[in-house]
Amino acid sequence: MLIGGGALVALAALGFLVAASGVISTKASTGHWRITEWFLQFSKQRSVSTYSLGLEVPPLDDGSLILKGALHYEFGCRSCHGAPGAPPSRVANTMLPPPPDLGAAVPKSNPKRLFHIVKHGVKFTGMPAFPSQKRDDEVWAVVAFLMKLPGLTETGYQNLVASEPRTAEAGQLPAGDTFASLNRSCQQCHGTDGLGRGEQIPSLAGQRPHYLANALAAYVLGRRHSGIMQPVAASLDETTIRRLVAHYAQLPASPRAPVRTVDPAILEKGRRIAHHGIRERRVPACVECHDPSGRRSNPAYPSLTGQSAAYLVGQLELFTANRRGGSSYEHLMQPIAARLDPDEMQAVARYFESRETASSALENP
Ligand code: HEC
Ligand code: HEC
Ligand code: HEC
Repeated sequence: MLIGGGALVALAALGFLVAASGVISTKASTGHWRITEWFLQFSKQRSVSTYSLGLEVPPLDDGSLILKGALHYEFGCRSCHGAPGAPPSRVANTMLPPPPDLGAAVPKSNPKRLFHIVKHGVKFTGMPAFPSQKRDDEVWAVVAFLMKLPGLTETGYQNLVASEPRTAEAGQLPAGDTFASLNRSCQQCHGTDGLGRGEQIPSLAGQRPHYLANALAAYVLGRRHSGIMQPVAASLDETTIRRLVAHYAQLPASPRAPVRTVDPAILEKGRRIAHHGIRERRVPACVECHDPSGRRSNPAYPSLTGQSAAYLVGQLELFTANRRGGSSYEHLMQPIAARLDPDEMQAVARYFESRETASSALENP
């Protein structure tokens, strides 16, 4: 033993006395001592390496995943880290350590390390943990975007995060309205037509208002998990929620154009599940609950018609892993999703995506 028990106690007491005397500066304005700086950086590098070892990196090249990550970056990260063509705020720059320029930091990192930092944040710095710890898919979306960030120009970034009107008049509201300005943030992700930008962001257009209001309430209460939607929903009051929900519910739920061409055999398989369920595994017909004319329909249950297949599959996977959460009706859906295999999820999701209305010819069994 190098140091005896007594010496250790004496050393700890000395450390305490130094701290108690107040000479150790906690001022952010003066920076760290070089040794403290080195030690904090070293501990962080080692900790991130150790904890990110066992991670498996999913495919990150999907355009709609990158778009979802970029949109979250715009709302949740840009104020501190800046973006191509937009420096971070001056307040952010007085933090110790200041938020690094990620365009320069990312090439020195890798997806696993980025995932670990974005999910868990960095202790003793201003770098926050991801708002929901329940699911990893959203964190990977942010990582997918970060991997593209170093090569992105100002115009490239703006093209990702600016809301794109898909139809000229849909969703237009009088200028100067405070509701309109709030709604503009929703539109940045859900589109001015409410159909959802990219395949990862859900369509709200024509959705049942009761379901939309319950979904927002579930995010606020932390009953439904999304690091992207929870902070957004938390900023809304009840009157605004009512107005937003009414607005989206009356937009036309036309299917996203262009709906890709899908193998007819897959659509037929999806149609059978949607209308007949899978008897041997006690999977009920989806339309029983999800179509307004369904036997067990309820205004609080969502319509799936015209919703993006990628979003639907994502939600089914979350239900299966018990990580979606939801309204007080969520328990009805969880066990049904858990009985579907991945091919069945794909097929039924493609079927609902391709459907134009709940009463179209495709619907007849
Ligand atoms: C409140 C300010 C703040 C916000 C918001 C914030 N960060 Fe950070 N971030 C920081 C600070 C400060 C550091 C430096 C930590 C350090 O030096 O260890 C940091 C570090 C990082 C790093 C590590 C970079 C490196 O040097 O390896 C990544 C990656 C990162 N942030 C990504 C994000 C992403 C993505 C978001 C949004 C989801 C985000 N940050 C939101 C302040 C912030
Ligand atoms: C940064 C992007 C972003 C912004 C801004 C945003 N949303 Fe969302 N929204 C999403 C994503 C992504 C989801 C899917 C989250 C999930 O997996 O639970 C979602 C889900 C929803 C849902 C649930 C839909 C369903 O089918 O279950 C509602 C309702 C909703 N958003 C309403 C709004 C409203 C209203 C606003 C504006 C106040 C808004 N969103 C702003 C990205 C966004
Ligand atoms: C017994 C009624 C019932 C049946 C049958 C049912 N669901 Fe659901 N489903 C629900 C409810 C209720 C919700 C909404 C939970 C919430 O409010 O959070 C839901 C939500 C969903 C969602 C998420 C939608 C969104 O916008 O986030 C998907 C996807 C889904 N169901 C797919 C299916 C599929 C596929 C089938 C058929 C295999 C099916 N459901 C059968 C009741 C049902």
